[in-house]
Amino acid sequence: MKVIIKQSSKEGSLWAAHHIAAKINEKKARTDEPFVIGLCTGSTPIETYAELIRMVKAGEVSFKNVISFNMDEYVGLPENHPESYHSFMHKYLFDQIDEPAENIHILNGNAPDLDAECAAYEKAIAAAGGFDLFLGGIGEDGHIAFNEPFSPLSSHTRVVTLTEDTRIVNSRFFGGDMNLVPKQALSVGVATVTGAREVVILAFGPKKARAIKDAVEGPYSHMCTVSALQTHENGIIVADEASVGELKVNSYKYFKAVEAAEKL
Ligand code: GLP
Repeated sequence: MKVIIKQSSKEGSLWAAHHIAAKINEKKARTDEPFVIGLCTGSTPIETYAELIRMVKAGEVSFKNVISFNMDEYVGLPENHPESYHSFMHKYLFDQIDEPAENIHILNGNAPDLDAECAAYEKAIAAAGGFDLFLGGIGEDGHIAFNEPFSPLSSHTRVVTLTEDTRIVNSRFFGGDMNLVPKQALSVGVATVTGAREVVILAFGPKKARAIKDAVEGPYSHMCTVSALQTHENGIIVADEASVGELKVNSYKYFKAVEAAEKL
């Protein structure tokens, strides 16, 4: 696992956007096959998406041959609810880039058969050729997508029950009332994410410091599901100074030295 430590969330977001665009362009130069990307929601990726939008408008990258699968969606929240992940993705990315509508996949949290919806999602990911890159954020407890603590690290797309902590944290988007936050969600599994050829996790701000410490220095454990990245050959955490505040000095120095040596 690499940890790329940038001074600010802005710098980290720009790095991530340029990295994603470079990977899309690299594949395009090599083959006609689509670039398959996993995408996340939350406040963390917004600046990365803004930079990708700028790059698309400037002709520096195109999503015409990109297929995307979002990582999660609330169960039972109407698709057009302002806090649904459908609404979020259209507002912050899809409505402003050139990705064809038929290439966009987001789990349907209102499907009549949720298990069938999840199984079909995994099949569609496999049919697209698997993920070239999965972009994720993390929860304060180290959850990836909605894989809360105790999610099997071998899990795939399924119905999950949110922890009270996550519902409290996410209540800021629901007028501060945790009772308005759905109790369940559909989420790709930990293994769906780690099955990607590359995983890029964004983590900014002091609220993510404990999760980063657990993910990087703690055990490979279902207690912090992003720790699954420890066994991934191509896992990158993009952090800012605030989110690595709890790493040991020696860990911090090592990741900085790698970054300097590889000019990341
Ligand atoms: C939710 C999402 C996660 C996201 C997390 C962090 O729980 N399901 O995918 O990573 O929120 O959100 P934020 O980026 O707003 O801190």
